[in-house]
Amino acid sequence: MKKNKLVYEMADFSLDNDELLVNETLFHNANGYLGVRSNFEEGYPDHFQSIRGSYLNGFYDLAEMKQAEKLYGFVEEKQTIVNVADTQGIQLLINQERFSLFEGEVLKRSRTLDMEKGVTKRTILWRSPKGHEVEIVVTRMASFAMLPLFTIQYDVTAKNFSGELEFLSSHIGNVQNYFNPDDPRVAAESFRHIHVERMETKDEVSLITSRTSASQLQVVTAVKHRLSKMGEINHHIQGESIEWEVKTFIEENETVSLIKYTIFADSIREENPYEHAWQLMGEATTKSIETWYQRQEQFLTNYWDHASVEIDGDDELSMAMYYNLYQLLQSAGKDQYSNIAAKGLSGEGYEGHYFWDTEMYIQPFFLLTQPEMAKNLIQYRYNILDSAREHARIMCHTKGALYPWRTISGKECSGYYPSGSAQYHINGDIAYSVINYYLVTKDLDFIAKYGAEMIFETARLWLDAGHFYQDQFMIHDVTGPDEYTCVVNNNYYTNALAQYHLQWAVKFYQLLQANDQTAVLEKIQLLPQEIEEFSKAAEQMYLPYDSELDINPQDDSFLSKRVWDLEKTPKDQFPLLLHYHPLHLYRHQVCKQADTVLAHFIVEDAQSLRTIENSFHYYEKITTHDSSLSTCIFSIMAAKLKEYKKAYDYFGESAKLDLFNTHKNTKDGIHTANMGGNYMAIVYGFAGLRIKETGYHFSPFLPEKWTGYKFKLHYEDSVIRVKVDRQSCQFSLEKGSRKNIHVYGKSYQLEDSLDIPLEGK
Ligand code: BGC
Repeated sequence: MKKNKLVYEMADFSLDNDELLVNETLFHNANGYLGVRSNFEEGYPDHFQSIRGSYLNGFYDLAEMKQAEKLYGFVEEKQTIVNVADTQGIQLLINQERFSLFEGEVLKRSRTLDMEKGVTKRTILWRSPKGHEVEIVVTRMASFAMLPLFTIQYDVTAKNFSGELEFLSSHIGNVQNYFNPDDPRVAAESFRHIHVERMETKDEVSLITSRTSASQLQVVTAVKHRLSKMGEINHHIQGESIEWEVKTFIEENETVSLIKYTIFADSIREENPYEHAWQLMGEATTKSIETWYQRQEQFLTNYWDHASVEIDGDDELSMAMYYNLYQLLQSAGKDQYSNIAAKGLSGEGYEGHYFWDTEMYIQPFFLLTQPEMAKNLIQYRYNILDSAREHARIMCHTKGALYPWRTISGKECSGYYPSGSAQYHINGDIAYSVINYYLVTKDLDFIAKYGAEMIFETARLWLDAGHFYQDQFMIHDVTGPDEYTCVVNNNYYTNALAQYHLQWAVKFYQLLQANDQTAVLEKIQLLPQEIEEFSKAAEQMYLPYDSELDINPQDDSFLSKRVWDLEKTPKDQFPLLLHYHPLHLYRHQVCKQADTVLAHFIVEDAQSLRTIENSFHYYEKITTHDSSLSTCIFSIMAAKLKEYKKAYDYFGESAKLDLFNTHKNTKDGIHTANMGGNYMAIVYGFAGLRIKETGYHFSPFLPEKWTGYKFKLHYEDSVIRVKVDRQSCQFSLEKGSRKNIHVYGKSYQLEDSLDIPLEGK
């Protein structure tokens, strides 16, 4: 791998407020546990807006969910991610002149994200109003080797003077969450979620203990500094902040470095977060910062070895791909208390909630590159299975479990049920991810212990939510993935997925019996009659089909609606959800995102290729892609239909979404599902991978503008390398036992390597 491919650099970054907000997201540091937005240590001018935040995955407060009319079962309380203590602040004074990019003269500036080293850097050459020239390099790291550790290294070099240098570093307990009453995609109200309980300084460590208002969770932040030079040090406690101050002397051409260590600890994970933070701070600061940098790099060398998707011939898309895969790593929870929020740990959009995004868009990447991570994500869903059972009861189902549409700790948090709780497909999505986990790993023990219980309980729900009518199994009043069409009968995606899910519930039942792993059947008292019902419902599942158009209508009433004229819709009216009443959208044939097209990707054997093709063209004309989860799926399906140019264009749109802020809301956080979708667009789209009971199937093509691409895949005990260039596609077994694979419909034994001429050039 060429090393420079892993450095994303923004030279001469703009000081425009809107762009700074986006960059706060793009250059955030996270490691799956903690996330810190890339705010300037020294702050911004007073009139500037900034979303200054630090977040912990799965750490939440509760807030009232105001319902104008309190109907039965409506959600009245939601969980929301909490902005915890701010440890980013560092003011620099040079001979008493305060450093600010908005004063004096900025002679050079750049920001980089180094994905090989796992750090961000801000480099500035600045001349103060009185003429002092300094170079400032700020390096930040959210450690992968010690998840609670965040560091800032602040290096100052005096270019043309010797004089006094003063650092004022803050640790602020008085923090609030961001809100915007005009955007349904972020919290609408201002509320202080966290209150300081205790503040102290002890052996040069400042500690702030805070508690959330309603969930009563505790978080402790510990901060310690190291200066490369002797200086006069002071700590002050001021209100709810602790300020650390040091004065020293800098010689011309000398570099003085300040290292600020922060440890975060919370009461979800630790019994005594205070002690834990204290102890970890000891561990963190007994090692040099270089040791932590080395560990970070080692971790990432290993990560890229499995995860990288190399694209040759298009540097911009190649960078976008690396950027996206790095963000997935930064976002994914690495313990049983957390998952992957729609915005990762980069901002407060969607309030830190976990959606189906994880299972359908991100998990495939982890499953194929680091199956242990995928297992962990499933384990989280297993841990909230009891909440899903409770949720099913609230929704009046007497049996089974219904996963919440959006949540942090397990309870449903969607305020608007038509495009929230009504998305019952979440059950099928989670089941699908468990089935895929099994197909890739064949880990039946995990299925017996955890997966099967989830599969059966969610399958029971289909039987309770749906019904037989004239010998067909129907599921009424649900919402599919397309949020511009809500509460409908027989959403094709939902029914097709439920069918697949029920078929697999039967298969797992048989597999567990055949392998004598039946404890789960007793645990949940699953009766043989229920398995018969699963089987019958799957067999008789009604899948909407229109013979005239030879397409699958999105639901029973979809085709009878008026078609929205997208061509005549002014550009500034997108996304439609911000400009039209939901009912107006529901009355039209207009889609926010892939729905039936997505179903055709994940259960492709349910329909003929002709129906899939006709459907693709039908939905393409009425899909706005207002959701970032859409273009990647259209790319995959265009590839399947051999519309390669289109596949490439959809992929390009999708890959650069955050780096180019094309959805205009990157300031609220990255779009993690979209990033996972980019991976899928290459692996499932360009390389044509499908994971079936018969094994891995490939059907690769190479976009015209590229000279090649390559990646690695896990498959049971093996790792397979896939390389596609202008002439051929090559498969080689990097480790593990030989595998049977299918390429362009033909079956091969992969023992060492295979070289197969490229079709469809
Ligand atoms: C999409 C959902 C998605 C959510 C979070 C919405 O805009 O319509 O499918 O789960 O964003 O990413």
